[in-house]
Amino acid sequence: MIRLDKYLADMGVGTRTEVKRLIRQGKVRVDGAVEKSADKKVDECRSLVKVGEKEISYVRYEYYMLNKPAGVVSATDDRRDRTVLDLIEGRKRKDLFPVGRLDKDTEGLLLITNDGGLAHRLLSPKRHVDKTYYAEVKGRVTAETVRQFAAGMDIGEGREEWTMPAKLKVVQEGEVSRVRLTLQEGKYHQVKRMFRAVGMEVLYLRREVFGTLTLDESLSLGDFRKLTEEELELLL
Ligand code: URA
Repeated sequence: MIRLDKYLADMGVGTRTEVKRLIRQGKVRVDGAVEKSADKKVDECRSLVKVGEKEISYVRYEYYMLNKPAGVVSATDDRRDRTVLDLIEGRKRKDLFPVGRLDKDTEGLLLITNDGGLAHRLLSPKRHVDKTYYAEVKGRVTAETVRQFAAGMDIGEGREEWTMPAKLKVVQEGEVSRVRLTLQEGKYHQVKRMFRAVGMEVLYLRREVFGTLTLDESLSLGDFRKLTEEELELLL
């Protein structure tokens, strides 16, 4: 059960102030009867809420896959930069947030939701959720580099900070190596710090997999879509 004004504001009918006004004006009905109290408790699943003739059904959680472009920050608001939430056009809810962070210059898969429980589970260090990145790095990735990544390494630069074993695959050899790296943790700037620890620099980074989710290749940079039923079922 939630307050009527919250119900309407969550569903994008208006701001809290605007929906309170609509309620006061007698424009909102709950189960057929005009309701003039903003704090009236309604059942999100069962109550029939109408504004004028329009039925407003309640959706508790929303889940979006975003193909994050470089240049936007993984935050809910920022004074200087555009955020990943600014890209979710037509967004009505105010409680959406990105699950985890990608650096400003990193592209790729980011889950946006308002489901705090799911976010907590996906980000929990105990769960070892897979994250796969495609990277282009300056220098040659050798069998020895692959072994170092698999063994786990100290990326602490002075104060010890060890990584778990990570799977590094070379996609294309060269002066710039193209690789795929799968991690089961998400330390701050982890991919860049791992390559730095072996004397290499990440030139380009894109996340392709996050848990059971794989970046939809038909999404252009900056585009987003709702998760499909199937993706959601696997994720939950
Ligand atoms: N590792 C990084 O270094 N940056 C990211 O954005 C994600 C993982």
